[in-house]
Amino acid sequence: MIYMSVTIGTPLQPSAFKVLLLGSGELGKEVVISLQRLGVEVHAADRYDHAPAMQVAHYSYTLNMADAEELKQLIEKIKPNLIVPEIEAIATQVLVEIEQQNIATVIPSAKAVNLTMNREGIRRLAAEELGLPTSAYRFADSLESFRAACDDIGYPNFVKPVMSSSGKGQSRVKNFDEVDAAWEYAQTGGRVNQGKVIVESQIDFDFEITLLTVRAKNAETGEIETHYCDAIGHRQDSGDYVESWQPQAMTPAALEEAKRIAHKVTTALGGCGIFGVELFVKGDKVWFSEVSPRPHDTGLVTLASQYQSEFELHARAILGLPVNTSRHSVAASAVIYAGVDDSNLSFSGLNLALTNPNTDLRLFGKPEGFKRRRMGVATARAETTDQARELALETASQVSVKQN
Ligand SMILES: Nc1ncnc2c1ncn2[C@@H]1O[C@H](COP(=O)(O)OP(=O)(O)O)[C@@H](O)[C@H]1O
Ligand SMILES: [Mg+2]
Repeated sequence: MIYMSVTIGTPLQPSAFKVLLLGSGELGKEVVISLQRLGVEVHAADRYDHAPAMQVAHYSYTLNMADAEELKQLIEKIKPNLIVPEIEAIATQVLVEIEQQNIATVIPSAKAVNLTMNREGIRRLAAEELGLPTSAYRFADSLESFRAACDDIGYPNFVKPVMSSSGKGQSRVKNFDEVDAAWEYAQTGGRVNQGKVIVESQIDFDFEITLLTVRAKNAETGEIETHYCDAIGHRQDSGDYVESWQPQAMTPAALEEAKRIAHKVTTALGGCGIFGVELFVKGDKVWFSEVSPRPHDTGLVTLASQYQSEFELHARAILGLPVNTSRHSVAASAVIYAGVDDSNLSFSGLNLALTNPNTDLRLFGKPEGFKRRRMGVATARAETTDQARELALETASQVSVKQN
């Protein structure tokens, strides 16, 4: 007998199956498009108007999602079937309560969202409870304990506010002389609950990967199964991704170890959906770095490489539908930055960028740009990853961003 999965009603009608997206960036925008294709009624929230995912949702809301009261009121008003966090700066305690009271399903689970929004939660789970290999680490919440932690871990090391993402407040500390400045910088880059940082020993890796891991229900039994996309290689600049490619070549032993780590950490976090498991690789050795319980920015490449992009995989998995993680092409992605601090920007050179039939673009439609803000992405398919990377970078560079 085939297990009965979700029933989807008609959007904007009483039978609607409703999803509330918390955070409406470019990754959320693609998730919304995938959900829309399946007839889901989508509600998108963010802290500013006209965020990318809001532009393709049925309804949108502007609020401070880190404010527990505001968030609770919004959820009570919409009464969504699923709540899909897209960012980390959310009053996650509210989500824990919502889940406990069976008001809505939190994707992938309130526990996952709560643990991964804080580097301390996920690092202690991975290293101390699950015994996964990670960099050596210490936590510090004062300048004095920070100096001691740095000396303990040694140099060079990486310092990150425990509540931060995309490289904010992060620095690589090369010696004792740089310690105080790193502390100051970390204090400016974190979110709520500022102060606490993690100090990590530097891992001398050959390359780093994102292993997109999907927890989805078996179509016949309804049991949750784990699926892996091919490894995605990427290059980071100041803690922010600039290009990614798939597949990343690695030894069979390293791949097996990467899957073992991803399986362990995603099983512990639970629920259904896609996870971006970040790993460092050197030869056959693999270290766990961090995990996002949602699509990953480096996974934008899957728009060009897979039958089901990471966004479609997420949409299907959270609805309890079957997934297919296979890849049809070698591909790469390269980020398009605003390059200027201004709003109301224009993009040209698109005809040139899209002349090659193996290239594609996504322009996110963000109302405001700043120098290092990601405004779009170029993707490219080719015979080899090196060729795909070159073509994606060239394509991105052909798009010019102008002020009006
Ligand atoms: N312990 C480490 N050893 C080596 N490189 C690191 C370490 N920690 C971070 N990095 C580099 O910095 C990047 C960003 O760090 P990460 O912890 O992923 O922060 P974020 O949450 O901002 O993505 C990583 O992708 C990696 O390139
Ligand atoms: Mg990261």
